[in-house]
Amino acid sequence: MQKTITGFSKLTKSEKIDWIVNTYFSNNKSAKTTLEQYWNSNKKLQQLHDEFIENTITNYYLPFGVAPNFLINGKTYTIPMAIEESSVVAAASKAAKFWLDRGGFKAEVISTTKIGQVHFTYDGNTEDLNTFFNTIKSKFFEDTKPITRSMEKRGGGILDIELRNKTEDLANYYQLHATFETMDAMGANFINSCLEQFATTLKAEALTSLAGNLNVVMSILSNYVPNCIVRAEVSCKVEDLTESSKLSAVAFADKFMQAVAIAEIEPYRAVTHNKGIMNGIDAVVLATGNDFRAVEAGVHAYASRHGKYSSLTHAEVKDGIFRFWMEIPLALGTVGGLTSLHPLVKLALEMLGKPSAKELMQIVAVAGLAQNFAALRSLTTTGIQEGHMKMHLMNILNQFEATSQEKEQLVSHFKTHTVTHSSVVDAINNLRNN
Ligand code: MEV
Repeated sequence: MQKTITGFSKLTKSEKIDWIVNTYFSNNKSAKTTLEQYWNSNKKLQQLHDEFIENTITNYYLPFGVAPNFLINGKTYTIPMAIEESSVVAAASKAAKFWLDRGGFKAEVISTTKIGQVHFTYDGNTEDLNTFFNTIKSKFFEDTKPITRSMEKRGGGILDIELRNKTEDLANYYQLHATFETMDAMGANFINSCLEQFATTLKAEALTSLAGNLNVVMSILSNYVPNCIVRAEVSCKVEDLTESSKLSAVAFADKFMQAVAIAEIEPYRAVTHNKGIMNGIDAVVLATGNDFRAVEAGVHAYASRHGKYSSLTHAEVKDGIFRFWMEIPLALGTVGGLTSLHPLVKLALEMLGKPSAKELMQIVAVAGLAQNFAALRSLTTTGIQEGHMKMHLMNILNQFEATSQEKEQLVSHFKTHTVTHSSVVDAINNLRNN
């Protein structure tokens, strides 16, 4: 069967669905029903979602949960999280509660600047290019005035533009390397619009006053933001770390620090360790309508900044005080993008008290630190599977289409029994056969 099509994007939504179900599904009626049952009954709301991207055929739900009791810089928050992994919200809530009783989280924004680059080649003399750049530099600022005016009113704009010579790494390669402050906006559109104007100005000026060929390759922001950094931290007396009788506070602190030290020197562990941090970060980034792919790319690049992939968090005990902290790059926005468009994003931001981008950076970093604390606490004490499988129990029960009554009985049963896939299957069968 021919499975390609021309003009697909021009079809109506219903024609698109028909083509898909007829082309790929043996039971096309059931496939169509599955797609249609995720449509929102509110037509206007559905249209809003349809128009976020091209070729929308339905909605893809993720659970939107909340983790209450986060005390950050003396203010309490209930943090919205959009995520499918069963134990993440529970772990965040647990860590929030643990630190609520121990002074809460401290967070601080250290820097907020972002980078964009015009990548170009030039085959003439470097000295001439330097002189040319210095002569026309002010023109970049002038020509972007229509774009920067409103950002400048808000306190942001273009902070600097440098000419960078990269010819040692790649023949004839240079950059305009620009630094931006985008205030409460993530700033991707602002930065990219400025860069494209820089490129236009650069090409036009080069034509009239530069010997040699100058060719712009591309103009784009960088998702590596090592100067847009937030720090999150928790600390307490070592003796206050105990919560259960399983491990003494000192032994727990030692084991916890050992776990962090391993992630600092061992990339195989560091990747999983940081993945746990991103469980918390991505969930809040998504719930607040931010770009989690940009955040992921930037954070992992930062974790490798010393030439070897390493832990984002660190821990120490000094003078009887346990301290656990993290510094990460986060380019977030609380205006623009989806923030005033997606009803759940608006709700999430309102739940957080309509934070500035800086405040949101602090909240997101804390969610990541809390998640890592919860993961390391489980890993170094009970192991991760106990909590994970308890949370996964409901997924297995749903797979077997357990009724509410069956669920109630089995959840109660597994309070005192170990959850494994086969133990749940046995328990369901037992229940159903008796
Ligand atoms: C699972 O999603 C995340 C963990 O693997 C993180 C970690 O190992 O630190 C539990």
